[in-house]
Amino acid sequence: MSRFIIEGGRKMEGEINAQGSKNAVLPILAATIMSDGKNMIYNCPRLRDVDMTIEVLKNLGCRADFDGGCLEVDASDISGYTIPDELMRQMRSSIIFLGAIIARFGRAEISMPGGCEIGIRPIDLHLAALEKLGVDITESHGFIHCVRKKQIPADIHLDFPSVGATENIMLAACMTDGITTIDNAAREPEIVDLGRFLNRMGAKIKGAGTDRITISGVHKLYGAAHTIIPDRIVCATYLACAMASGGTLAIKGANPKDMGAMLSVLRNMGAEIYEDRKKLVILSPKKLKSIGTIKTMPYPGFPTDIQSPFMALATQCDGSSVFVENIFENRFRHTEELVRMGADIKTDGRVAVVIGKSALTGARVAAPDLRGGAALAVAALAAEGRTEIDNITYVDRGYEAMENVLSSCGIEIKRRE
Ligand code: EPZ
Repeated sequence: MSRFIIEGGRKMEGEINAQGSKNAVLPILAATIMSDGKNMIYNCPRLRDVDMTIEVLKNLGCRADFDGGCLEVDASDISGYTIPDELMRQMRSSIIFLGAIIARFGRAEISMPGGCEIGIRPIDLHLAALEKLGVDITESHGFIHCVRKKQIPADIHLDFPSVGATENIMLAACMTDGITTIDNAAREPEIVDLGRFLNRMGAKIKGAGTDRITISGVHKLYGAAHTIIPDRIVCATYLACAMASGGTLAIKGANPKDMGAMLSVLRNMGAEIYEDRKKLVILSPKKLKSIGTIKTMPYPGFPTDIQSPFMALATQCDGSSVFVENIFENRFRHTEELVRMGADIKTDGRVAVVIGKSALTGARVAAPDLRGGAALAVAALAAEGRTEIDNITYVDRGYEAMENVLSSCGIEIKRRE
């Protein structure tokens, strides 16, 4: 089992490059199976989730190879429309392939994605929308069987602006004759990036990034080249690392326009943040001010994915902060580990109260999930002494070589297998 060993008490000082976005590249890789020919995906992050997605692509019969920072995907010889159980269990976001496989084959068979560490994560909105698009869906033996006897466009209203459901509808509808609309669509920057890539392939999608998306079906999609947007959650995590250590950081290639809600929280804590020639720069204040109440919301609200790293930072604020987790029902599992390091956090259902400032001390802790693992790294930088973080395979799912990024900015961190 791999773990990080981090010596606390050092300031993070330096400049890093923004990695490509995990939550943008995963649906874009799914979209590649809808075209014949080569797709060139630039700024593709080297992550465990990307490796698992490549396994799904290869399992369907695609070629997928890295050439430097570019992932080349060729779906000309794609043969299968099934995603086996073991792949689905490893990464539930493979559900995104459903819309793309149906668009390519008119049928799909995938193992029912279970829940994960952060919640039950039902897919009822995905399936209800696909049925409106003419897909017959049956479930048996833990599998979802989809057959599209007739292609029909639809006006779809989402009860909740689900990211995954919005993406699956865009994938399933872009090769459906007629016009499909999505009302109350998710507006995340990753949705915009998927829309941009699909339009490069020849799709006709308007309104990605707004709450109403219009998709005019086309008959064929072509291979395309695309550069993945920077990962706003990873950038914000490293800004939190800099703040926790009282340091200064510049991130080359970050896009502050996608990070509004997160940057305003850091500014409220007292950070000085500015842009300097395509770099996002943060200067930490001497003392961190508490941030009042934070509620996680769909974009452009405060993202649930940064809740745990920012909670770790809030343990260093003068005064109390309150976090209300509105998106996932089980996303406070990192609090026990932070308390083990000396934090004072009380949770009750979806509310957590962080009483600051706590004098954190290094300890042996375990990452409960991807963002919870990142939160422990933030805390370790503020802690006195050595912290050992187990289960960092979770962190590798979304952060590219975190130890290299932090050590390049003066942090003493090692990975132990
Ligand atoms: C995406 O998950 C991201 N994953 C998540 O990031 C992120 O937390 C989430 O969006 C919200 O921003 C990827 O993009 C791969 P949702 P997704 O559908 O698509 C409920 C990370 O750390 N819901 O918007 O699964 C659901 O249970 C990950 O990088 C239904 O009830 O999120 C949840 O409570 C974690 N029925 C809420 O909606 C449905 O059919 C939001 O889910 C679909 C969703």
